[in-house]
Amino acid sequence: MQTTFAIKGNLVHTPQCGKLELHPQAYLVCENGTVAGIFETLPEGYQSIPVEDYGDKLILPGLVDLHVHAGQYAYRGLGMDMELLDWLEQNAFPEESRFAEEAYAEAAYRIFVDGLLHTTTTRASIFATLHRPATLKLMEMLDKAGLPCYVGKVNMDRNSPDYLRETTGESLAETRRWLEKSGEFTCVRPILTPRFTPSCTDALMNGLGQLHREFGTPMQSHLSENLSEIAWVQELCPGTRFYAESYARAGLFGGDCPTIMAHCVWSGEEERALMKEKGVFIAHCPQSNMNVSSGIAPIKQYLREGQKVGLGSDVAGGAHLSIFRAMTDAIQCSKLRWRLVDQETPALTMPEALYMATKGGGAFFGKVGSFEPGYKFDAVVLDDSNLPTTRSCTLAERVERTVYLSDGRPCAKYAAGRKLF
Ligand code: GUN
Ligand code: FE
Repeated sequence: MQTTFAIKGNLVHTPQCGKLELHPQAYLVCENGTVAGIFETLPEGYQSIPVEDYGDKLILPGLVDLHVHAGQYAYRGLGMDMELLDWLEQNAFPEESRFAEEAYAEAAYRIFVDGLLHTTTTRASIFATLHRPATLKLMEMLDKAGLPCYVGKVNMDRNSPDYLRETTGESLAETRRWLEKSGEFTCVRPILTPRFTPSCTDALMNGLGQLHREFGTPMQSHLSENLSEIAWVQELCPGTRFYAESYARAGLFGGDCPTIMAHCVWSGEEERALMKEKGVFIAHCPQSNMNVSSGIAPIKQYLREGQKVGLGSDVAGGAHLSIFRAMTDAIQCSKLRWRLVDQETPALTMPEALYMATKGGGAFFGKVGSFEPGYKFDAVVLDDSNLPTTRSCTLAERVERTVYLSDGRPCAKYAAGRKLF
């Protein structure tokens, strides 16, 4: 791997939320996996480095999928005529139980990793299933592909069928064994993954909190997605005032424990205040929220109140891995929210959606999602010449058209300075 090199093309990124920064025909220099800078002409010290010239193509930071279920990829696009809890029972649980069989898991994860590799996504935070060997297999495949992802072995010890439930002791012991093995990967990292509060007893949640303190592992889960789910959590956790407390009381809600919470469609004021105080990342998954009729999350307000927000595909609640698609879904459903729910809060804009898809979600991974110096060199190269039009478009318009119209398959992709294809 070349440690210092440059790529050249039309660079577009969003160092600030809501503002596109455009660098037509500029060089992006990579040193040791990190962005060294954007240059109109290559400075003296870089005159002899290799340059890959992508001509008139577009170059964006690699996109981030902050919430996706690899163990549900096989049934994407199927079985959407249900709300969340029935959808879990009828689709998610039976499919995920098949990952007990390693040959099935390997075949299914091969399809997922090949699919993910050819999207614009360079990093993702992924739910596997509760099976340790299959989860390690997925991590190995992503590591080989060079995709720097977080992957979680799911924990579930209540409220699911026998075929997809662990005892509390098994769940914690298997998680410990998995964490001990997870240090072996180059770019893939483990993330604690209690499925959601209805699937995890207090004892399991507390045990995971202890594992977090021992291993320093971050965590991901679901929060305030669906009204029936929220009512159920209130019954299951009578000592809590709001859903997030069921994670927070185990030490699994931000602060020292970097946390991603998917959805947050119905979070009330107290929950939002705690998310903000603890720096919890919200994974907004608009397509899933529409498919399983969860609702429209108040994302523009979250941005205004300074929450950390990224985008998620939530496959297979969402049918598509494309984060371009998540961007347009986010914009479109924010428009419905503006018209139908809250006339005070305008819709999301394209630059805001691009920010959430790159730097917003990327922040969970460190300095990720921007071409500013010191950021990880994650980039995707897009050819929009196959989207013909008689208009002559500005660079910003070309990005907008690409997000709405392209199949979301880049022609080249870099993660942490490594060219993946
Ligand atoms: N809540 C608990 N499990 C799931 C899941 O698999 N998908 C979604 N969308 N929500 C969940
Ligand atoms: Fe999910």
